[in-house]
Amino acid sequence: MGRHRTGHAPSEVRDPLFGSGIRASMGRLKHEGAGVRTGFLSMARELPGLVAVTVRLARRAAPRDLLVVLVAELLSGVATVVTLMATYRVLVPLMTGGPSAERLASAVPALLVVGGAAAAGSLARAAGKAAVSRLGPTIERLAYTRLLRLAAGAELAALESPGFHNLLEAARQGTRAARLVIAQAAQLLAGLSTLLAVGTVLGVLHPLLLPLLLATVLPKGWSAVRSARARFVSAQRNMELSRQLEVLSGLLTGRDVAPEVRAHAAGDFLLGHYDRLSAVAEAEQARLGRDEARLALAGDAVSGAAGVLTYVTLGLLLTAGTIPLAVAGAAVIAIRTAKAGLISLVMSINQVYEQGLYVLEWERACDEAARHQMSSGPVPLPGHPVEIRADDLTFVYPGQSRPALAHADVVIRPGEIVAFVGANGSGKSTMAKLLAGLYLPTSGRVTWGGVPIERLNRRSVFDRVALVAQDFARWPATARVNLTLGHPEGGDRERLWRAAVASGADAVVAGLPDGWETLLAREFMGGTELSGGQWQRVGLGRAWFRDAPVLVFDEPTSALDPEAEIEIFDQVAGLATRGHTVILVTHRLASVARADRVYVFAGGRIVEHGRHEELMRAGGAYATMYGLQAAQYAPADT
Ligand SMILES: Nc1ncnc2c1ncn2[C@@H]1O[C@H](COP(=O)(O)OP(=O)(O)OP(=O)(O)O)[C@@H](O)[C@H]1O
Ligand SMILES: [Mg+2]
Repeated sequence: MGRHRTGHAPSEVRDPLFGSGIRASMGRLKHEGAGVRTGFLSMARELPGLVAVTVRLARRAAPRDLLVVLVAELLSGVATVVTLMATYRVLVPLMTGGPSAERLASAVPALLVVGGAAAAGSLARAAGKAAVSRLGPTIERLAYTRLLRLAAGAELAALESPGFHNLLEAARQGTRAARLVIAQAAQLLAGLSTLLAVGTVLGVLHPLLLPLLLATVLPKGWSAVRSARARFVSAQRNMELSRQLEVLSGLLTGRDVAPEVRAHAAGDFLLGHYDRLSAVAEAEQARLGRDEARLALAGDAVSGAAGVLTYVTLGLLLTAGTIPLAVAGAAVIAIRTAKAGLISLVMSINQVYEQGLYVLEWERACDEAARHQMSSGPVPLPGHPVEIRADDLTFVYPGQSRPALAHADVVIRPGEIVAFVGANGSGKSTMAKLLAGLYLPTSGRVTWGGVPIERLNRRSVFDRVALVAQDFARWPATARVNLTLGHPEGGDRERLWRAAVASGADAVVAGLPDGWETLLAREFMGGTELSGGQWQRVGLGRAWFRDAPVLVFDEPTSALDPEAEIEIFDQVAGLATRGHTVILVTHRLASVARADRVYVFAGGRIVEHGRHEELMRAGGAYATMYGLQAAQYAPADT
């Protein structure tokens, strides 16, 4: 059906905003996503496995509630059998000889059983429902926190891969889906037990009625599962498209880009893209809807034909005198009961199947994140400062073809100030992150005290480094948390004060309405916003507060005023005299003169290294850059 259509499939979209992004990711998804199986038997075989994932989660979340759900649904099934059998008992005496006071009286016990069983069934269903509503949110929380924990502990490189992000998005839906699966699985169990009950009753009444009932059930089940699978596959294929739509709506409503959206009059441009992309998504929805309607029609047709056949058979059996009228009456009631159960069964199969596939993606994402957990070797760092080296280091970012760093060598001895300089995109920040243990080398080695980073306990490495990244984070939290982040000893006022003075954050905090307790997030009530330079002072303060033996500053003064810049470079020089090791990435070459060694990066390679004076004498790339910068400050010719 839908597979043969050649309409405006999303895989063919080359968007003017996102370029070939969609197409590229589509190619990967086909291989990465759940295999597209549409055979009924293979899908039916999948169903128990899909439910099992959620049941395992439920067993861990709240085993007692799970038991209640199971028992309740079984009881409700038993109640249906008893109700049907007792109805049959009531009907037989009434229909065999016509109603009379005596026959009515003899039917009373069976009627009581009907009432009792129906009440018991209702009670069981109510208990099951209550247990499901307790179980659902617990499962969702458990699934989500597991995903968050694994994602937070994953290797940085894993989080840079778009494939992993698509998987994470599906997994996020999977945590919500787990809640639906448990509710729908309970319904499915109830539907199945009704069918089982009706099947038993029909089997007892006449064996021929049983296969006919199955013939009315299976086609509907088939169309439900096919539709669910088609919806899931489509959602997987369109994951990137959905994420891009989300990015666009974020751009249109977000605070960070709001000034540029207005100043560049980009609103219409973005809206146009939003319309175009959502038209693709809508077309896909419409296609799915058409296919689903066709499938449902086919299922209904076969089911309906089987239903007619059932009644014809019943009539033939009746006229042939094979079954008495009472049995036929009970059979009709049983079939009608089955129909009601059937509708809810089909709906829950549909839901369990579709949502179960998302839960499977959640499990896959957890496995994937678990495989990419930050590795940590057995060797702890010694207590004293050690030499940090990069030897023949090459690094390729995940999913990229060109190396960001190629065959680079760097040596940083304890207590040294080492500077990285070079053009934009030459690999300085990448090198800084590799030395800090945030990425692992593609080839070559990074060593601390002669031990390769892979063999070292990563935590002990992170504990030694304070990194002020070029794109340092602006935490939506109080000023205090922004400086002391993740370190509960933030209560140490003396240390906080020293860090604030060194970074110039003290002046920033002095101007805040609630001082250290001011929330630095404008999007929340009572929040306030800092200027770019003020944020940079806070980011620097965070590094000073860590008081780590190794400090990495990546463009630490890009937003600072001249006075603050000079102050920061003085502070950095002071750090080295107090035994700290400093890696300084900067374009301000005047600040590099004090460094023990300067590495000059170009196109991912290190082209020169040495002291400022040596590099000036050599007259190479460094001397040229320095000359250009110095010329800007030379007195103008008059
Ligand atoms: N997260 C990333 N994923 C993929 N490629 C990246 C990533 N970060 C950087 N790159 C690429 O790696 C190369 C080196 O980037 P890097 O950030 O190390 O340069 P840099 O020397 O710090 O530049 P700048 O002076 O602009 O800060 C660039 O070509 C860049 O496009
Ligand atoms: Mg950089």
